[in-house]
Amino acid sequence: MRHPSNVAVRLADYRPADFLIDTVALDISLHRTETKVVARLALRRNPKGAPGAPLVLDGDELTLVGVKVDGRPLGAQDYTATPDQLTLTAVPEAPFTLEIETRVDPTANTQLSGLYRSGSAYCTQCEAEGFRRITYFLDRPDVLSVYTTRIDADKSEAPILLSNGNPGETGDLPGGRHYAVWRDPFPKPSYLFALVGGDLGVVRDHFKTTSGRQVTLAIHVEHGKEARAEYAMDALKRSMRWDEEKFGREYDLDVFNIVAVSDFNMGAMENKGLNIFNDKYVLASPETATDVDYAGIEAVIAHEYFHNWTGNRITCRDWFQLCLKEGLTVFRDQEFSADMRSRAVERIGDVRGLRLAQFPEDAGPLAHPVRPEVYHEINNFYTATVYEKGAEIVRMLRTLIGDDCFRRGMDIYFERFDGTAATVEDFLSCFAEASGRDLSHFALWYSQAGTPVLSTEGSYDQNAKTFALTLRQEIAPTPGQQEKKPAVIPVALALFGQNGEKLDLESADARPDELARGLFELSDSTRTVTFKNIPSQPVVSALRGFSAPVRLEPAPASADLEKLLACDDDPFNRWQAAQSLALRAIFARVDAARAGAPLPSAPGYVAALRTILSGADADPAFAAQALSLPSETDLAREAGSNVDPDELFAARFGLLEEIGRALASEAEAIYARLSEASPYSPDAASAGRRSLKTVALDLVAAGDPAKGSALAESQFAAAGNMTDRLAALALLALLGGDAREKAFAAFYAQFEGDALVIDKWFALQATIPEPATTQRVIDLMSHPDFSLSNPNRVRSLIGVFANANLTRFHALDGSGYDLLTKIILELDPKNPQVAARLLSSLRSWRTMEPRRRALIEARLRRIVAQEGLSADTKDIATRALA
Ligand code: PHE
Ligand code: ZN
Repeated sequence: MRHPSNVAVRLADYRPADFLIDTVALDISLHRTETKVVARLALRRNPKGAPGAPLVLDGDELTLVGVKVDGRPLGAQDYTATPDQLTLTAVPEAPFTLEIETRVDPTANTQLSGLYRSGSAYCTQCEAEGFRRITYFLDRPDVLSVYTTRIDADKSEAPILLSNGNPGETGDLPGGRHYAVWRDPFPKPSYLFALVGGDLGVVRDHFKTTSGRQVTLAIHVEHGKEARAEYAMDALKRSMRWDEEKFGREYDLDVFNIVAVSDFNMGAMENKGLNIFNDKYVLASPETATDVDYAGIEAVIAHEYFHNWTGNRITCRDWFQLCLKEGLTVFRDQEFSADMRSRAVERIGDVRGLRLAQFPEDAGPLAHPVRPEVYHEINNFYTATVYEKGAEIVRMLRTLIGDDCFRRGMDIYFERFDGTAATVEDFLSCFAEASGRDLSHFALWYSQAGTPVLSTEGSYDQNAKTFALTLRQEIAPTPGQQEKKPAVIPVALALFGQNGEKLDLESADARPDELARGLFELSDSTRTVTFKNIPSQPVVSALRGFSAPVRLEPAPASADLEKLLACDDDPFNRWQAAQSLALRAIFARVDAARAGAPLPSAPGYVAALRTILSGADADPAFAAQALSLPSETDLAREAGSNVDPDELFAARFGLLEEIGRALASEAEAIYARLSEASPYSPDAASAGRRSLKTVALDLVAAGDPAKGSALAESQFAAAGNMTDRLAALALLALLGGDAREKAFAAFYAQFEGDALVIDKWFALQATIPEPATTQRVIDLMSHPDFSLSNPNRVRSLIGVFANANLTRFHALDGSGYDLLTKIILELDPKNPQVAARLLSSLRSWRTMEPRRRALIEARLRRIVAQEGLSADTKDIATRALA
């Protein structure tokens, strides 16, 4: 295959391409099994390349039909071609045209990279290295070309023909075929190429940019689903406006097309002027999508649109720079969502996501720097570290240099690097210039893997009225990086007095701007700041707003957490205080259970929750977050070693029962109040009320399962929207019994045929924390609606089972691991990217208690030993075992 898995690609080996391709003219005749591709490339030697080097083009499973240089067909002696490479030894020194004809079979393409079919449509996915599955090319992001694409197809099969850029000529052809030409004036790398052909419904709209350009917007979806694309269209227009207002970035083509397909490996793809989406991130209606789905659509639509500047106009020099577009674009979409919704709730959600996916990655065998230095398979580096930690670095940068300097730095970046393939150094240089600050130490965040542990230690001097606060950082070794250096950590801080009043920060050990902003830079292993005029022992609120992607350990004393929960004016740290109290209560139960001691109750935490409940109306979305216990996955991560999911489940469940009993009447009252019918609207405030209602219902059920079940049954039956319906079904799934099976049957009957909704049905069944679930998942794999070839189905049933059902997946008889192993080995030959991603659910195996650790290790060894394993899966298995 294209990368024998033993070949490492290294950042240090980067060399400019030997040739440049100024223009690309593609002529593509769509056919189900034999699509004809003719590529005419205007080539010339790159002055920065190696003189006299042969022309070596990348391919992947290609069938070559013919090659011409300047119109002259080449003989067999002039080139060597394999499915993976085309080499021309003698090429003209002057610029020349290379014409390559290939055949590809979109129907046989089950890896969903290159040209493939989704349903009856033809579509492409070229990032990272899919273009080479269409034609031989210099398939690397630093080769930028202007593309013209002519597509022809059977007119009834594919009345709609789309590619990048602006539409050109169209017309009919003999034999019931037709054609369309597209011209993209902006030079782009091959990974941003896209093409779609199919019979699709369309929703159209318009957008006028600030400078007056009229843009036609179109979202193409399955016929009959047009109404479900309206929210996506609205999100698109809001994204376009926001990028103009917040970053001064306008759209630059006459049309912007989005196509939703049902078979897609990832969330969506930012191809120039032609975004292709997993339909999960486009289609929504109140009856079929939850509030979480709506928020996801808004975020992904924005993300892909924002790539038009951060990714497309300025692209990456090489794949090591992936965070340059992804981290920055995630930062931008998070800011957009914060502006559209509640900034505090957005921040809590983003940090929860970071801790859920990135912290375990950074703490395990797959840890890598935000800008990796070596890879075997680039597809495996579309990670939470590159995306989410990458976004945190950009956020820290803004925090450190301030909003104005940050915006100026972005302006410089757009101005200076537009039309180029840039690096992380290029990016940072703009902010160094805008702020006058040396960012070389800060740059360590890009090259050093691992999550720093930040600790604080305070000492109060009653007589001197001073408070000395020592900040410390430490980073554990990660694979390939034994020695770590201290990072630059922006620590947002506040001190509160005993009556909850915020204290003025005065100190001779800090810069005036640090004191004024409450932002202290920790750039050595330790730093002590002594604050003056502190009337009494203060309470420290550290890492406010989660000012850096670090672990703050240990959490403050419980009494301090209770105070912060009451008085902190930073909502993130109020939420964090509740989480820390919950973690402490749960781990106290785990410890007691292990010691055979009576289980401790948690009166302080319960009292704190009572207060949150009673003030919940002021900000329901925030209250819902603050009232939620850490998930089992959160607990496993916090435990860090010797994890026994059964113990964690029992302790968490026990605390939930305690809370449910203690707060029964409050929870019931809130539930009743919020259950009064109102028409569905997906806006953040309404969604917040629904999430609080769900939390209240879960609490009622925790205290009194029979009552909870009855309420859930009637909510399920009467629900006017999917959020309420699914919340009820989730609770019934947990509570079990007849009501559960009846509800699952009714849900299926109601939504049969609606694949995205049936995914929710698969997912909820996979989460049932009971022994029978493993067999249930096996049975569901034979359900007619399940298919191993569809990534959404696989993620809903198998991904959820492996990542969200800890007790069953980690069952001590190894049945969960066996199931995953079997599926991975079956899926790997079909779709290695999805198989490899599934396998990474085992990445934290060394944190498990010894029996489970041994069971997982044996499965990982079985997988690496598999003959013919893909480079993708082999790479993950090998690194996981290293
Ligand atoms: N570049 C896409 C995004 O994050 C993700 C993606 C990567 C999609 C690779 C497909 C393949 O916006
Ligand atoms: Zn992206």
